[in-house]
Amino acid sequence: MRISARSSFDRLDADAASQLEQVSMALTGPAGYTYDPTLPPPPFGHAIKKFWAFEKGYVNVNHGSYGSLPLPVLAECSKLSLLSEQNPDRFHRITYMPLLDEARRQVAEIIGAKHDEVVLVTNTTHGLNTVLRNIEWREGDVLLGATTTYGAVSRTIQYLGDRSEAPRPTVHDVLYEFPMTHAEIVDAFRAKIREVKQLHSDVQFTIQPSEKEFDEKANRFVAVIDSITSVPGVYLPWKEMVKVCKEEGVWSVIDAAHSIGQETGINLADADPDFWVSNCHKWLYAKRGCAVVYVPERNQHVIKSSIPTSHDYPGQTDDTHFVLQHECT
Ligand SMILES: Cc1ncc(COP(=O)(O)O)c(C=O)c1O
Repeated sequence: MRISARSSFDRLDADAASQLEQVSMALTGPAGYTYDPTLPPPPFGHAIKKFWAFEKGYVNVNHGSYGSLPLPVLAECSKLSLLSEQNPDRFHRITYMPLLDEARRQVAEIIGAKHDEVVLVTNTTHGLNTVLRNIEWREGDVLLGATTTYGAVSRTIQYLGDRSEAPRPTVHDVLYEFPMTHAEIVDAFRAKIREVKQLHSDVQFTIQPSEKEFDEKANRFVAVIDSITSVPGVYLPWKEMVKVCKEEGVWSVIDAAHSIGQETGINLADADPDFWVSNCHKWLYAKRGCAVVYVPERNQHVIKSSIPTSHDYPGQTDDTHFVLQHECT
C-alpha cells in the first residue's frame, strides 16, 4: 500500500519539482533504494535491509517501541516537508487537506472502517487520552485496565481515577499471568467484570456509549483492552473480549497500538468495538508520529473535543465535527 502525494507534486512548477527530486535522490541514493509499488515486493530478510537507514552493524530487534521508517517513505515525507516550506500558507490552507483525507481513506480501508470514522493523531497515547478524557465521568463509573496495560495508558487510567476534581471513575485491573490460553483470558476478563459489578452492587451500569440521554442514576463501566500487549508481547482475543463487553453492558476501548500493519484481517465493522486506536508508525511503517483513532458514527458524540481543543470545536451541538476537529492534531 502506498499513501501517495503525487497529485500535489504534479502541480509544482519545474524549479520546485527539481528541488523535490534532489531531496528524494539524496535520501534514496543513486543506487535507487526506492520501491516501485507496481512491481512485486522485494524478497523478505536481508534483501530488504537496504530500504532502511540502519547504521552498519545495527540489527533492529526492537521495531515495536518506536517503529523504523523505510527510506522510500522517508523520501516521500521529506518531499512533503519541503513542499510545505516552499509555501506554508498554500500548503496548510489548500494542499494538506486532500492529502490527509486520502491518508484517512486508505487507513479506513485497511481496518474495515468508514472513511469518516477514522482520524489521525500523533500516537496511541494521544488517541487513548482523546477517548478517555472525553468521557464525561460520573461518580460511580468504573474504568477497568489490566496488569498488562502499557505504562502510559495505565498511568492515564490511574490519573483519571486520582483527579482531585470529582466526578471520577473508580479504577480496577484484571490480572493476566501468562502463559494463558485465549479461553482463559476471556474467562478472566469476564470474571473480573462480574467481580467488580458485585463490589459495586448498588450501581446500575446501564449507560451505553451510543446513548445521548440517560437516567440520572445510571453509570458506565468502561474497559481498556489490549489487542497485543507490549511486555510480554501477547496477542489477546480482543474481538471475543469486545463480545463479552457487549454481553455485560461494558464499553470497549481497544489499545491496538501494535495491530495495524501487523494483525491480519482487521475488520472493525465486524468486530464492532466502541473505540479503537492503533499506531501507524509501528507496523504500518508510517512516519513517526501517526496513530489512527476509530470511533464509529454512533459514538462520535462522546468525542466532544479533540485534544488539544482545535479551532473547529463546534460548541454544544449534536454534530461534534469529529473529522474536522482532528485536521490539525
Ligand atoms: C500496547 C501499547 N499501547 C500503547 C503504546 C503507546 O504507544 P505510543 O508511545 O506511540 O503512544 C505502546 C507503545 O509501545 C504499546 O506497546
